[in-house]
Amino acid sequence: MTRIAKPSIKPVNPRFSSGPCSKRPGWTPAALSGALTGRSHRSREGKARLADAIARTRDILQLPEGYQAAIVPASDTGAFEMAMWNLLGARGTDVFAWEVFGRVWLKDALDILKLGDLRVFDAGWGQLPDMSQADPVRDTIFTWNGTTTGVCLKDASWISDTREGLTLCDATSAIFAQRIDFSKIDVLTYSWQKVLGGEAAHGMLIMSPRAFARLESYEPPWPIPKTMRLKEKGKILRDLFDGVTINTPSMLCLEDYADALTWAEGLGGLDALIARADRNAAVIYNWAASTAWLAPLAQDPLTRSNTSVCLKFSDPDIVAHGEDACGRFIAELGALLEAEEAAFDIVAYRGVPHGLRIWTGATIEAADLECLTGWLDWAHREIKAREYV
Ligand SMILES: Cc1ncc(COP(=O)(O)O)c(C=O)c1O
Repeated sequence: MTRIAKPSIKPVNPRFSSGPCSKRPGWTPAALSGALTGRSHRSREGKARLADAIARTRDILQLPEGYQAAIVPASDTGAFEMAMWNLLGARGTDVFAWEVFGRVWLKDALDILKLGDLRVFDAGWGQLPDMSQADPVRDTIFTWNGTTTGVCLKDASWISDTREGLTLCDATSAIFAQRIDFSKIDVLTYSWQKVLGGEAAHGMLIMSPRAFARLESYEPPWPIPKTMRLKEKGKILRDLFDGVTINTPSMLCLEDYADALTWAEGLGGLDALIARADRNAAVIYNWAASTAWLAPLAQDPLTRSNTSVCLKFSDPDIVAHGEDACGRFIAELGALLEAEEAAFDIVAYRGVPHGLRIWTGATIEAADLECLTGWLDWAHREIKAREYV
């Protein structure tokens, strides 16, 4: 295997991790200099800042009338489990899971909450389950964008407009990058650490009027710890949705989120964020189409993520040596690119077919992805020449 020349230019920002994701272009710690540190989050100013972050989130996401957003503890996991613990069990539940995180929510439903009336729709790596199986009489749980396989929903047309059940959507790696029809969603969660490149401490919980109606009328049979409770003494914590958080938030993380929102507004809001992710992902998919050693893990092109681009290792010379050889090759390739400071954190999620996962959300620059492709070509040849020929 002939080697090729090492590229002379590195990506300006080699941080392609799928979480925490890259900060916005130009971010420095100076962005946090105005943080309300050492002050109470219950002070007038503290509450105003929390409320402002919620209001700006609503505006950018163009939330429909009656939908409300809250800042909650424990990142996306905290927000999604909070929704599950407070709302599920009132009717049968359908879980759609096709990658690692969807299966975490499945485990919660099955083993922890032990929901009796549960239907499970799973799919192999790179595929979506048959979403048309969703029953509008039942509650439905799903992840919009499977971060670990790069398989996302095409749309929400499979969700009934006249449903009786609630739809709970983990959209942490889709929101601000993919178009989501909120009229089909009753609960949506995400973390600041993903598409806007914020910090992981807090999650966002968005609820529809129908989700509030369930919360009002339903008392789950299991205990709910304080950090996850949306009701106290039978009453909804309404002011949680005005910025009165359950417990103490990080004002530093809040400032960082506000900075990310300012950047997103400056770009032109949701359309601009989506366009950036689309353009970024196209750089990688177009390049992968011309390589023989990687192929999109998502089989249906319409389900290919524009944020977490997952590529399966498919070099026939190495594949012929078996799974372990593929794993070793990819690990070496990832380590080489890290050592060169050309790309960090791009090896596929553990347990998923061997390959690469490259974040292409809005905080990434297309020029850095273009540059990365040259490094990928180089590293592939380099490892092959060293080890396998
Ligand atoms: C789809 C999905 N859900 C949930 C999580 C967990 O997010 P967090 O660690 O922010 O709670 C992740 C993290 O990557 C994810 O990709």
